[in-house]
Amino acid sequence: MRQKIVAGNWKMNKNLDEAKVLIKELKKELKDGLREDKRVVIAPSFVNLHYAAKKTKKSSIEVAAQNMHQAKSGAFTGEVSADMLTNIGVNIVILGHSERREYFGETDELLAEKVDAALANGLEVIFCFGELLEDRKSGNHFTVVESQVKKALFHLKEEAFKNIILAYEPVWAIGTGETATPEQAQEIHAFVRELFVKEYGNKTADAISILYGGSVKPSNAEEIFSKPDVDGGLIGGAALKAEDFVLIIKSI
Ligand code: PGA
Repeated sequence: MRQKIVAGNWKMNKNLDEAKVLIKELKKELKDGLREDKRVVIAPSFVNLHYAAKKTKKSSIEVAAQNMHQAKSGAFTGEVSADMLTNIGVNIVILGHSERREYFGETDELLAEKVDAALANGLEVIFCFGELLEDRKSGNHFTVVESQVKKALFHLKEEAFKNIILAYEPVWAIGTGETATPEQAQEIHAFVRELFVKEYGNKTADAISILYGGSVKPSNAEEIFSKPDVDGGLIGGAALKAEDFVLIIKSI
């Protein structure tokens, strides 16, 4: 069964005091649990992960990291390893977010290494991809998305995709208030699913969840999520307010 997932990427927002409040509010709102095929994930900053993982352990909220380093351990000042995450009860990691690609120079090749390290350590990966505005304007969006997905993921064996969630995030729609239309999202999601059909067959392609991210808010979530190949959302700004995030969760 393909899972419906709403994930909140808190980015560099919320100190511990603020994270405590938001987690408390979310737990209260979601205390009745979730439908079996539904998942809710939050991704606070590294410093708040331990707290978040502990506090949500018995709830229906799962916790993800926003990034990790590909090496096991060693002299990588300022970095965090997969083992450090699983050791504190974090079992999901977001990789390939466009902000990591743009501001921290993360390439498809590096992301392939990070994906391997995450999977080898038993982490589930939310893998982000998406085109820049100029790619869309020049009509290159399909080529860009295809290349990002293939370079970072298509070296993997079929069974690896049990632990991979995809997130299509057109860069021009992130934090801009401009959302892809439901049709634009559906078009790319269907295109990506078809890439999986060709490479790995129908079963894998059907089972993989593809989230949409980019200015999702309570007012547009339902329409975007109604598309057949959109299996949920990766939410930035609107994940920082419990009320908005819960409305988005309810609209799936
Ligand atoms: P946004 O961010 O919802 O604030 O546009 C989405 C994301 O970057 O994951």
